[in-house]
Formats: sequence, structure tokens, C-alpha cells
Amino acid sequence: MARLKTQVVIIGGGPSGLLLSQLLDLKGIDSVLLEKHSRDHVLARIRAGVLEHGFTELMREAGCGSRMDREGEIHTGFFIAHNQIKDRIDLSGLTGGRTVMVYGQTELTRDLYSARDARNGKVFHQAAAVTPHAISGPTPYLTWQDTKGAAHRVDCDYIIGADGFHGVSRAAIPKDRIRTFEKTYPFGWLGVLSRTKPASPELIYARHARGFALCSLRSQVLSRYYIQVPLSDSVADWSDQAFWNELRRRLPVDVAGALQTGPSIEKSIAPLRSFVAEPMRYGTLFLAGDAAHIVPPTGARGLNSAASDIHYLYHALCDHYLQGDDRGLDSYSDRALARVWKAQRFSWWMTSLLHRFPDNSPYEQHLQQTELDYLLSSKAARTTLAENYVGLPY
Ligand code: APR
Ligand code: PHB
Repeated sequence: MARLKTQVVIIGGGPSGLLLSQLLDLKGIDSVLLEKHSRDHVLARIRAGVLEHGFTELMREAGCGSRMDREGEIHTGFFIAHNQIKDRIDLSGLTGGRTVMVYGQTELTRDLYSARDARNGKVFHQAAAVTPHAISGPTPYLTWQDTKGAAHRVDCDYIIGADGFHGVSRAAIPKDRIRTFEKTYPFGWLGVLSRTKPASPELIYARHARGFALCSLRSQVLSRYYIQVPLSDSVADWSDQAFWNELRRRLPVDVAGALQTGPSIEKSIAPLRSFVAEPMRYGTLFLAGDAAHIVPPTGARGLNSAASDIHYLYHALCDHYLQGDDRGLDSYSDRALARVWKAQRFSWWMTSLLHRFPDNSPYEQHLQQTELDYLLSSKAARTTLAENYVGLPY
């Protein structure tokens, strides 16, 4: 069996794992990253696109911010559409000048891979049967197999489980040492990416009796749209034409009238789910990002919550290796979870506000309408929305 030794093994080559390996490398901390899929596979996934300030700062600190700063769009607000009206949430005005960056997760991941290549980062793709061992003690190791079936072992000080919701890291923690919290929603989002001019230069979150819709974008020539669909629907049920027709029905007529349509480049359905595992540490294994928590996409918190975990973990590992100070590692789980739960609360709130809940009673429907009326009439309520959307401080 081929053997390697490193300081930190990172499982998962999504944004969490890549960002951490790059940040650690710049501080002289050695890591090995094991990714289950090929790079092409990872880069073919269409995911989120709204980055909060803390994330963009981490990308810059990682030396990966230049294309993002050139091609990404700064957004100072977004719209909530309802009853043929569009109300603007002035993120910048409500938060003392804070904004978000629209830059696709795919592009960000591409930039992180390029940065790892440029520094000869030890990133192994198509790593099969990745298995953490001895994680309760101080000398953990990983075993895995390469594409030829050859067995490998990596010894390390710490393992970072950044392998997403379906990864192996969380599952490696004994059941009686981890607690999970979950909420599922009775619908999903059908998303379409199309090479068309976006319906609006700023995002539109639309509440409609037929169900929620979102007009988002990756650039001014690449649009991303979503509509709420029942969980029983599949992509095959939705031709491009059916999608555009339904989207139009849920948008104010002026937006619908100006909507440019075109062939879908990507079309997929994602169920909406909230999930948290705690604690985010077991022995020498630390969980980060989707491996530990997921949110419904409504508040654009998923990727941003992953970034805040990486912020805490990065500083904790630097303190350990560069100052001999373990307080950051010891408090990682508590600090990360405190922020994770706020993102959970916000995502749940925004999901509850804007979707059609088929089983809601007339009373609950009234409350939902009142919540929206209150939000749009109260600067205090809009400020709460805005400060959560641009990202709470780390
Ligand atoms: N071994 C190695 N790698 C694995 C394994 C495994 N057993 N299981 C999963 N992976 C890889 C996946 O292929 C994926 O590339 O781990 C990576 C996890 O990446 P993401 O799912 O993107 O999770 P994360 O990096 O935490 O990113 C946060 O924010 O916008 C949200 O859900 C969205 O992807 C997003 C996330
Ligand atoms: C997206 O562009 O994919 C997107 C934007 C905002 C959200 C969710 C998804 O809240």
C-alpha cells in the first residue's frame, strides 16, 4: 500500500475543501485533498451564485479573488415581487453600505482548482472508498483507492470532512456522539440555466398563489430561474416551454412580458431541506460545509455558511500549527454552530414567507400574508432581512 503523510487531510473537493486547502497552503500548512469525482464532474454541477462579503474576503485572502472581482457583479439590493408589485430590498442602504457578489459557484470552484494547480496542491480526484480511521485518537489516517484500484494510506494530524451532505465523514462518527436535526419541505425547486439576458439586473424573489419563483443570474448574458414544484414532479415532466410558461404566470406582468426565453442549458430539481449535525467535531475529525448542515436555497445561505465554517477552521488550524494554541480548534464546533443556526433560522423564515404551502390552513395563509405586509412596511423588519442576507459577522 502506498503511504503518504501530511498535516491535514481534506475529504471533498467542493468549495469548502478547496478553499481550506488553498488557505492552509499559503500559511505553510500541508494538506492532501481527496475528491470522489473527476474535476469535470465537479465543475459540471450548477449550484449557488450569491456570495456574502466574508466569502469574497476569504477568496481574496486565498489569492483567488481576481477573476471574481473582475467578472462578478456587486448587487446592492434585490426585489420581492407579489400581487403584480415589485418591492426593492435596499441591502446597501439598510446595512450601512454592505452588498453581495453574484458569481457562480462553478466559476469560484474553477478558480480554486487553478490556484491549487498553480501551487502543485496535492489534490486527488476519483478517489474511491475513502475511509477515515482512528478518528477518536491523535493519529488518524485515511485509506482510499485510485482509479487503477491501487490502495493508498494517508497519515495525518486532522481530518476535515468537507464531503457534502452524502459524504463519508459524518457517517464515520459513532451514532451516539452526533445529533442531527432535520426539516423537510413538501416541495422542491425546478431550476433552469439559460444563455439569455436576465429578466432583471437584480434578483427577483416572487411570491405567488401558484407557488414561489426566483429570477437569478450568473451574468448579464446568463440567467438562472427557479420555480417551486411538487416533490412528485420530475425534470421529464417539464419541457422548456412549460417551464417558461409557468415562470411567466408567477411574475408581475411587466417582468413576464420582458422575459427572454431560450433553450435550457441545465435543468434540475432540488428538494428543499434543512439539516444540522452537532457537534461538528469528533476527536480529530472536523466537519465543514454541507457535510454538517444544509439549508433550503431561499436565503442564499448554503455556500455562505460553508465559507464561515472554513473561516473558523482555517484560523483554528493556523493557531494550532503556527502558535501552538488549540483554543480555536476546541471552540470550533460551538462557534460554527452558533452562526449555522442563525443561517438555518433565516433560510426557514424566508422559505416560509415566500412559498405556497399546500397544507397551510386559511389562518396560516393569513399570517404569511401579514408577515409580508409587515416586512414591506417596516424598516426594522427589512433591516433584519438585509443584515441576514448580506451575512452576519463571523
Ligand atoms: N470521498 C471523497 N469526496 C467526496 C465523498 C467521498 N466519499 N463524498 C462526497 N465527496 C465530494 C463531492 O463529490 C463534492 O465534490 O465532496 C464534495 C462536497 O462538495 P459540496 O457538496 O459542494 O459541499 P461544500 O464544499 O461543503 O460546499 C457547500 O454550498 O451552495 C451550497 O450545497 C451547495 O455545494 C454547495 C455548498
Ligand atoms: C442562484 O442564483 O442559484 C440562487 C440565487 C439566490 C438564491 C438561491 C439560488 O436564494
